Amino acid sequence: MTQTVAQRPTFSPWTDPESVPLIRFEGVSKRFGDFVAVDQVDLSIHAGEFFSLLGASGCGKTTLLRMLAGFETPTSGRIFIDGTDVSAIPPYERPVNMMFQSYALFPHMTVEQNVAFGLKQDGLPKAQIREKVRDVLDLVQMSRFGGRKPHQLSGGQRQRVALARCLAKEPKVLLLDEPLAALDRQLRERTQLELVGIQERVGITFVMVTHDQGEAMTMSSRIAVMNSGCLEQVGTPVEIYEYPGTRFVADFIGAANMFEGVVASDSDDLLVVTCPELESDLTISHGGSVPVGAPVTVMVRPEKMVVQRDRPSEGMNGVKGIVADIAYLGDVSIYHISLPSGRRVEVLRTNLRHTGEQELTWEDEVHLAWHPANAMVLTR
Ligand SMILES: Nc1ncnc2c1ncn2[C@@H]1O[C@H](COP(=O)(O)OP(=O)(O)OP(=O)(O)O)[C@@H](O)[C@H]1O
Ligand SMILES: [Mg+2]
Repeated sequence: MTQTVAQRPTFSPWTDPESVPLIRFEGVSKRFGDFVAVDQVDLSIHAGEFFSLLGASGCGKTTLLRMLAGFETPTSGRIFIDGTDVSAIPPYERPVNMMFQSYALFPHMTVEQNVAFGLKQDGLPKAQIREKVRDVLDLVQMSRFGGRKPHQLSGGQRQRVALARCLAKEPKVLLLDEPLAALDRQLRERTQLELVGIQERVGITFVMVTHDQGEAMTMSSRIAVMNSGCLEQVGTPVEIYEYPGTRFVADFIGAANMFEGVVASDSDDLLVVTCPELESDLTISHGGSVPVGAPVTVMVRPEKMVVQRDRPSEGMNGVKGIVADIAYLGDVSIYHISLPSGRRVEVLRTNLRHTGEQELTWEDEVHLAWHPANAMVLTR
C-alpha cells in the first residue's frame, strides 16, 4: 500500500512547551453500565491541528468525540476547550460543531437552505446569511449546485454540503465522525486531500474519527491510536509508522514482521537479540537501552528489507529462506519468504521494470537483508 503523507513540516505546536493546547482531556473515562468504553484518556490537541482518532470498530472513538461535542457526559475526568471546563456546557453552547456520518441533510431543502439553516436559527441578518452561504459553498466548490436538493447530488457532493453547513457556523473545532465512509475509493482519496486543503484555508481545528489508517496517515497532523478505550500512542503519521511505541501500534499501522526474542547484549548503541525462529542473532541500532535477558519484539517493515540471491554484506542483518509466495500488486510485489524454522516473512519489492517476468520466483533460495537502523525494538 502506498500513501502520500500530507506533511506540514513547519506546523508542530505540540513540540513547543509554550504552546497552550486548545483541547485537553484529563483522565476522561466513560462507562456504560460496567462496560468501560473510554479508559482514563489524557490528550491535548492544539489549535490548527487536523487530529485523527484511529482504531478498530468499538474501541471508543465515537464516544470520545461525542464527549467533546457534549452529547455524552464523562463518567470521570474533565474536558477543557480553550481553557474552560466544558462539563456543564450543553452541546449547542460549545465552540464545536459535529459532522455526523450520515450527514443528516434536510431532504426537502435546497443546498443553500441546508447551509443557511443553522445561521437562521442563530438569528443572523438575512444579508449576512446570504454572504456566508455563498462563501462556504465557494470554499467547497458547490456554488453551482445551490438550488439542488440532496437527492440530486452525488455522495461526494452531499458530503461537501454537510461540511459547508458545519463550516458556516464558524466553530473553533469541527468534529468529523468517519466523514468519508460513504464514498468510493477514488472519490475518497480525492476528497481526503480536498478536506485537508479546506482545513488549511479556514484554519479551524479538525478532530476526525476514522478506522482507515491510510486516511489518517494522509490527512492528519497527528494521530491518536486507540485500543479498547485506551490511547496506545499519539504522534505524527511518521512517528507512529516508523517508531511505534507498542506491538499493537506496530501491527495495526501498516504491515510488520515481528520476531520474538531475548536481548543478548547491549553495547555502543547496538542491541543484539536472539530469536528462536532465526538462525542468527539480530542487531538493532536504535533500541534505547534494554536490559540483557529482557524479552523483546523486533519489528521490521516489509519495505525496509531487501530480498536477494546473494549473501548480505558485513554489518547487515541477514536471514536465509525460500520464496513461498509472490503477491503481484502491479506497482509492488509482496514476497512471502519461508524460513528454515517454518516462519514466514513478508518483503515488499517495487516492480521497477516494465515486464511481467519476475527476477525471483517460487522455490528460489534467497537472503533477506536489512540494516540495523531499519528495525525497531518493542518492549510493550
Ligand atoms: N449508549 C451506549 N450504551 C452502551 N454501550 C455503548 C453505548 N455507546 C457505545 N457503547 C459501546 O462502547 C464501545 C465504544 O463505542 P464507540 O461507538 O465509541 O466505538 P467506535 O470506536 O466509534 O467504533 P466504530 O468504528 O464501530 O464506529 C462499543 O463497545 C459500544 O458498544
Ligand atoms: Mg464510531
